[in-house]
Amino acid sequence: MTLAMIFKTNNEKQVRLCRLTLADNEELFDYLQLLSAETKKRFGPHSFDKQSVIDLYKNSGEYIGYVAHDILTGKIIAYSIIKIGYLQHDCIRLQSYGIHPNNDTDCTFAPSVADEWQRLGIGNALFQFVISEIKTLRIERIILWGGVQADNDKAVNYYNKKGFKIVGQFEYNGPNYDMVLDIM
Ligand SMILES: CC(C)(COP(=O)(O)OP(=O)(O)OC[C@H]1O[C@@H](n2cnc3c(N)ncnc32)[C@H](O)[C@@H]1OP(=O)(O)O)[C@@H](O)C(=O)NCCC(=O)NCCS
Repeated sequence: MTLAMIFKTNNEKQVRLCRLTLADNEELFDYLQLLSAETKKRFGPHSFDKQSVIDLYKNSGEYIGYVAHDILTGKIIAYSIIKIGYLQHDCIRLQSYGIHPNNDTDCTFAPSVADEWQRLGIGNALFQFVISEIKTLRIERIILWGGVQADNDKAVNYYNKKGFKIVGQFEYNGPNYDMVLDIM
């Protein structure tokens, strides 16, 4: 397992990428609170209150958080989450497209970057870090967490660039895409 990686953003800031740990809880909560309404609308793997975050991570290794810290301030500036396996809620839709989610070889992914740090390559770097780790867990496919809103151009471009493919569409507060990436 890679413990941490240092990355330089497009504007020469140094960022540290690593797994989320218990020690990050307060920082993560601050990060979530400071996200803009626009970003919160797009990123929804869990509620933004402290207890929801604590409850999610406390018991099992089912959920893995990944964070980027600004080395200068120590603050969390990006946060992605992986669930090992698939979400029951997404499963019925995925099956309707002929996809058969597998809890051993699939994982479910949701990324976010703080508003003022977006478009600096951090989303890319954190994704590469996540990939290098999940490959060691024998994960073969990444499924988007609840799909992606079709009008979320930043994210749709982001996933397209990484080779994610649209496998189906559904309506939830507007049109959404389900996308998956084979990483074998
Ligand atoms: C999607 C997100 C994680 C991308 O992170 P990021 O650090 O800004 O992305 P990067 O700078 O690494 O850019 C990676 C690619 O994303 C796409 N992208 C990022 N910002 C974009 C923008 N403003 N407009 C269009 N495409 C954009 C591009 O394809 C870009 O590749 P390129 O620079 O070669 O063109 C970030 O925009 C975000 O947190 N959005 C809000 C939360 C969200 O939508 N999460 C996804 C939920 S499904």
